[in-house]
Amino acid sequence: MSETVLFVDDEENVLNSIMRTFVDSGLRVLRAGNADSALEIINRESVAVIVSDNVMPGMKGLELLKQVKIISPDTVRILMTAFADLPTAIAAINTGGIFRFIVKPWENQLLLDSVRDGIDQYRLLRTLCRGYDEALLNSLAQTIELKDPYTRGHCDRVATYSLMIADVMKLPEKLQNDIKHGSWLHDCGKIGVPEGILNFVGRLTKNEFLTIKKHPDWGAEVARLAKLSTPVVNIIQFHHERWDGKGYPSGLSGTDIPLEARIVTVADIYDALTTDRPYRRAFTTGKSRSILSSSRGRALQPGIVDILLSLLGGVSTVFEPRV
Ligand SMILES: [Fe+2]
Repeated sequence: MSETVLFVDDEENVLNSIMRTFVDSGLRVLRAGNADSALEIINRESVAVIVSDNVMPGMKGLELLKQVKIISPDTVRILMTAFADLPTAIAAINTGGIFRFIVKPWENQLLLDSVRDGIDQYRLLRTLCRGYDEALLNSLAQTIELKDPYTRGHCDRVATYSLMIADVMKLPEKLQNDIKHGSWLHDCGKIGVPEGILNFVGRLTKNEFLTIKKHPDWGAEVARLAKLSTPVVNIIQFHHERWDGKGYPSGLSGTDIPLEARIVTVADIYDALTTDRPYRRAFTTGKSRSILSSSRGRALQPGIVDILLSLLGGVSTVFEPRV
């Protein structure tokens, strides 16, 4: 059965117009004229995505979405707002309250794309909730990569490099397994980033870059909701932190960054260097190794870089992990 999307707006003509936009979407579309009716629906059935107007008589959209987060945490929440209301919406997105906001008057294509991204996020969560099926997790990683053609095969390669490092460090088997799954899923939050931003060739605006920087938080939120193991959540949450503390989203440094995330970061950066990106061609293996080496003690933990460089160069090394 197709997923359900619920639109909430006090203006009849707005709802009518949205219904016309979604008539061929393949989704089951419901409507509510106020927050109370919307909550009745949410209490009654599974809703994948809710799109709510903010300014309505009675309960405001933002308050409605807060309640939906409690009653139905899996439901992806999108806020529609007038331009004047934008600071409120941005604040809500930054505190993790909502997935996306749409400014009124809206562009139909943007609304369709945002709802589809929301459905993808909902499916991601539902799939993760089904448990640790390796084939399922891997196919999920492939689906995430489809959003960004430049990253084809990236998750598998990150897992391979990370496991090579973990093996040298003699990490316990359970942690190695988590590192594999975390590597596959590390960028799952990119489902929340519009494709237009992800694949944009050129300089991103400050706001677009801020949106990209939200992907670790978004991914970790989904992973937590799906009750994935702590190391897997850590990898998703902290894979853009830097050894020197200049990374994002938390600005952690050194061993405050969980070991599993420090390992995946080294693997992630090495693979990014050796493959084409929207904004540059792949570096040669030699150049990639020298860039990796120059990141020792800055972006990356020196000991972990040394392990990967040794493995790539066929030289063995002994590493004592500082967890
Ligand atoms: Fe990432």
